[in-house]
Amino acid sequence: MRLEGKVALVTGSSKGIGEAVAFRYAQEGAAVVINGTNRSDLKKVEERIRKTTDAVLSIAADVSDGAQVERMVEKAIARFGKLDILVNNAGKMFYGKVEETSEEDWGRAMSVNLKSVFLCSKAVIPHMQNRKKGRIINMSSTAGKTARTITGVSYAVTKAGIMYLTKRMAQDLGPHGITVNCIAPGPVDTAMARTFPEDLLAAYTSTIPLGRMGVPEDVAKVAFFLASDDADYVTGEVIDVNGGSYID
Ligand SMILES: NC(=O)c1ccc[n+]([C@@H]2O[C@H](COP(=O)([O-])OP(=O)(O)OC[C@H]3O[C@@H](n4cnc5c(N)ncnc54)[C@H](O)[C@@H]3O)[C@@H](O)[C@H]2O)c1
Repeated sequence: MRLEGKVALVTGSSKGIGEAVAFRYAQEGAAVVINGTNRSDLKKVEERIRKTTDAVLSIAADVSDGAQVERMVEKAIARFGKLDILVNNAGKMFYGKVEETSEEDWGRAMSVNLKSVFLCSKAVIPHMQNRKKGRIINMSSTAGKTARTITGVSYAVTKAGIMYLTKRMAQDLGPHGITVNCIAPGPVDTAMARTFPEDLLAAYTSTIPLGRMGVPEDVAKVAFFLASDDADYVTGEVIDVNGGSYID
C-alpha cells in the first residue's frame, strides 16, 4: 500500500498498459481516475478495480481536446480533492513512411499522442504547483529513439516529442516540487501491438535479449516506481522497458 492517500489520473486506462498501471496504483492504495474513449471498456476496468477499492472514477474523454481535458481534470479534483500523479499514457498507433502518410493522419497522430500530453499536463500543473508537489509520468516508446522501428514515422515523431517535453517540463517544474519522467517501452502485448504486421513483430521479438515481448505489468512496475517515494530524486529521465531490444 505504498501509494495510500495519493490520487492518480491515468489517461488511456480503459485497456492495455494504462489499465495495468491504474490497477497497480489501486492495489498500492491510490485513488484512481481512469480515462479512455470507449465507455464499455472503461466500465469493465472500473468493475475490475472496484474489487480492490471504491476509490475509482471513470471519465470518458478525448485527451486531444482541450475542453474535454479541462472538464476531466475538474471532475477528478471535485471527486478526490487533488491530483498527486498524472500518467500521460493515452496513445494510438499510426503507420507509414512520410510519403505514405496523409496530412490528416499526421495531424491526428500529433493531436492524440503529443498534444494530449501538453493538454493534460497544462490542466494539472496549476493544481500540483499550488500543493508544491506532483508526479508526471509520460508514455513514450523505443520508436521515438531509433529509426529501426516497425511503427509509422508520425507515431515515432510523437514519441520523440514526448521525450523532449518530459525534459523541458522536468526543468521548469522541479522548482515547484513536481517531477516529470518518461517510460519508453519496446513492444508490449496489447491491442496496439496486435496491429503490428505479424511477421515483422515475430522477427523483431526473436532478437529481444530477454527472449519475449513485454506484458503491460512490466511497464506498470516502472510506472509504480516513478510514482513512489523511492523516485523522490528522479526527474527528467527516460526509462527503457524493452527487454534489451534497444540498448543505446
Ligand atoms: N503496446 C506497445 O507495444 C507499446 C510500445 C511502446 C509504447 N506504447 C505506448 O503505450 C501507451 C498505451 O498503449 P497500449 O499498447 O496500451 O495501447 P492500447 O491500444 O491497448 O490502449 C490505448 C488506450 O488509449 C486510449 N486512447 C486512445 N486515444 C485516446 C484519446 N484520444 N483520448 C483518450 N484516450 C485515448 C484508449 O481508449 C485505450 O485506453 C500508448 O501511448 C502507446 O503509444 C505501447
